[in-house]
Amino acid sequence: MPEGSSSSFLFTVCQIGAENALKKEITREHPELRFAYSRPGFLTFKFDPKTAVAASPNELTPEFELRSAFARAYGISLEEVASPALIIEKTLELKRALYLPPEEAFRLHVWEKDEFPKGEEPPDFATGQASRGLERLIRKEAGSRGSVRFHESVVAMPGDFVLNVIILGSRKLEKPVWWLGYHRHTPQHSPFPGGIPEIELPPEAPSRAFLKLEEAVLRSGAPLLPGDTAVEIGSAPGGASYALLQKGLNVVGIDPGEMDARVMAAAHFKHIQKVVAAVHRPDLPASVEWLLVDMNVTPNIALFAIDRLASRTKDTLLGVLLTIKLNQWKMADQIPSMLEHVKVMGMVRARAVQLFHNRQEILIYGFTRKGLLRKTSRVG
Ligand SMILES: C[S@@+](CC[C@H](N)C(=O)[O-])C[C@H]1O[C@@H](n2cnc3c(N)ncnc32)[C@H](O)[C@@H]1O
Repeated sequence: MPEGSSSSFLFTVCQIGAENALKKEITREHPELRFAYSRPGFLTFKFDPKTAVAASPNELTPEFELRSAFARAYGISLEEVASPALIIEKTLELKRALYLPPEEAFRLHVWEKDEFPKGEEPPDFATGQASRGLERLIRKEAGSRGSVRFHESVVAMPGDFVLNVIILGSRKLEKPVWWLGYHRHTPQHSPFPGGIPEIELPPEAPSRAFLKLEEAVLRSGAPLLPGDTAVEIGSAPGGASYALLQKGLNVVGIDPGEMDARVMAAAHFKHIQKVVAAVHRPDLPASVEWLLVDMNVTPNIALFAIDRLASRTKDTLLGVLLTIKLNQWKMADQIPSMLEHVKVMGMVRARAVQLFHNRQEILIYGFTRKGLLRKTSRVG
């Protein structure tokens, strides 16, 4: 790789608390990466050709794809930068080193690494305040120099070169640290800065699960269409059902708990007010395209519940979106076997990711052959 763009370090960011789970999965999946440095929510790894195996890449390239559920964003790690002017200078160096044509624009991703465990943010805290200000300064600096161009939208497309400016500030530090990195976007990455999508919670949404559902659909690319039927196990009070109804789906919610009145009033919603073990095939519509789970139970119980319903709906099923609670972080070790389980259920593609809106839990999504066909024909 040309000088100026090369580094043998990879940066990763994750939820506060997930650092050890991330380290363990990288040790398991990537023998060519050696843990180098960490602070809460931010870890770096050194690419080490000595420990690479035959299937490993022989250098760390911008296209490198990390097999990880917990890394919300990752890329080649460059250096600390102290001013917007320096960021533009470094970007120009990078552009030259990568032999990019003058007109090539970067995708600018500026974001703050997490400072608090999910759900423990102080009431006055809102993510994005510092990064919006810094992004404006960087764009202004680029505009006045004219040598570096950034796309206006931040949503990355496959093939884009993404400049990552990570704010490693801590409320305890006087001056935040700005860290520079870059990568080339592939569908393995989240297209959003730091893996943080901008989704608004409508004031009338029954729960924050609305955000999880919206993010799960964006991240997985699940091709939900109006008129599809979704069955959600663990549906009360109804944030996710509300989001699905807004998308024009028919929704069946299975939960012994009470659903929100706005969801109950929807013509396309049916509540089965039972525990999932008491639900039988005749209780469900003839055609079910999507199965969702969001129960506060252990991974094994959640997977067993979905197993039963997946086998009874397999003729029409397109995919599954499963929120799996990791009551203890060590349950993360079971992710490979959970993915196998989902494949045995009939999913031809399955992946685990920790979403920005997930607490101590992950999303496992998967598609059947039919679901994948719909997904690829819609994209293509
Ligand atoms: C995190 S909440 C679900 C939030 C919901 N998805 C939403 O959009 O608002 C977990 C739910 O799982 C339900 N649950 C727990 N065990 C269950 C079971 N065996 N069968 C069905 N639902 C169950 C609980 O009653 C609870 O409402």
